[in-house]
Amino acid sequence: MASGINLAVIPGDGIGPEVVAEGLKVLAAVLPSEVKLETATYDLGASRWHRTGETLPEAELERLKAHDAILLGAIGDPTVPSGVLERGLLLKLRFAFDHYVNLRPSRLFPNTPTPLAGRPDIDFVVVREGTEGPYVGNGGSMRTGTPAEVATEVSLNTAFGVERVVRDAFERAAARPAKKLTLVHKNNVLVHAGHLWKNTVDRVAREYPDIVVDYLHVDAATIFFVTQPERFDVIVTDNLFGDILTDLAAAITGGIGLAASGNINPTGAFPSMFEPVHGSAPDIAGTGKADPTATVLSVALLLRHLGYQAEAARIEDAVTADLAERDAATPRTTETIGDALAARVAN
Ligand code: IPM
Ligand code: MN
Repeated sequence: MASGINLAVIPGDGIGPEVVAEGLKVLAAVLPSEVKLETATYDLGASRWHRTGETLPEAELERLKAHDAILLGAIGDPTVPSGVLERGLLLKLRFAFDHYVNLRPSRLFPNTPTPLAGRPDIDFVVVREGTEGPYVGNGGSMRTGTPAEVATEVSLNTAFGVERVVRDAFERAAARPAKKLTLVHKNNVLVHAGHLWKNTVDRVAREYPDIVVDYLHVDAATIFFVTQPERFDVIVTDNLFGDILTDLAAAITGGIGLAASGNINPTGAFPSMFEPVHGSAPDIAGTGKADPTATVLSVALLLRHLGYQAEAARIEDAVTADLAERDAATPRTTETIGDALAARVAN
């Protein structure tokens, strides 16, 4: 454990700065006084792009490398063409810092709404591959804009990339009580990549005889997310399937306002980055309606990653207690929720 935390903060666009402010408030409140928190704020996102045309200059990327971790709010704005900030900033960070584990836990907290019948016991974590798949930008288009246009978006899957994320998922499953790992893919159609994923899981599984291994096609997995979510413990899947499944996971566990994520480089070679799963929600920016809980839970993931287990647990307990007392009829502001959580975790 470091004696201090040198944190990079990228508030970003829309509600990003609002939720990040509350995340930092809770972080400052939970850390013991002997742990020094240093933060550096990076002006990246839509307004920087409008001003300078830059998304993520090399010099900023270099500066970011020196931090212990990155806290990111949200990236994206309707005034910027789709893909510019997503590719040029968010995905660039994930790829440049080799965030091959995109960790997205889902838990149904008491008293949180779910569209599912009954209150299933949901507690699983999606280990989404973060540096390969169809996200690599390997493709192109011919005869663009004509009726004869042809477009490809090729999914990249390497033995190296698949094995390292599969190993991480097995380690996480081994550390959890249910000890179950489900590979989600579509190997009845995507036979080449599906073969690599399935073979890798089967091979690594031999080193983990205590872990129950399951396989589901992604379409079937979406059914089970709704009809039987308690069957999942650790899910390992590729970048795109993981993107889609984790929005569904958020929807069944209280919504996107509670979904946290970590973009993790487990080797420590680069700083890991923590962010709420939700986007910049420009429609509610500045209204105080954004729920900062997803960011606060992302701060807990950040603390766990840096070795502050007790502090991470205090944040999660505070969120559990806060949610237990929430009353949907009397919504609270972003700041009120942040204040309440900060008060609960304070020493
Ligand atoms: C997410 C987002 C991103 C993704 C977009 C904004 C590039 O949807 O973090 O899930 O697809 O990974
Ligand atoms: Mn997504």
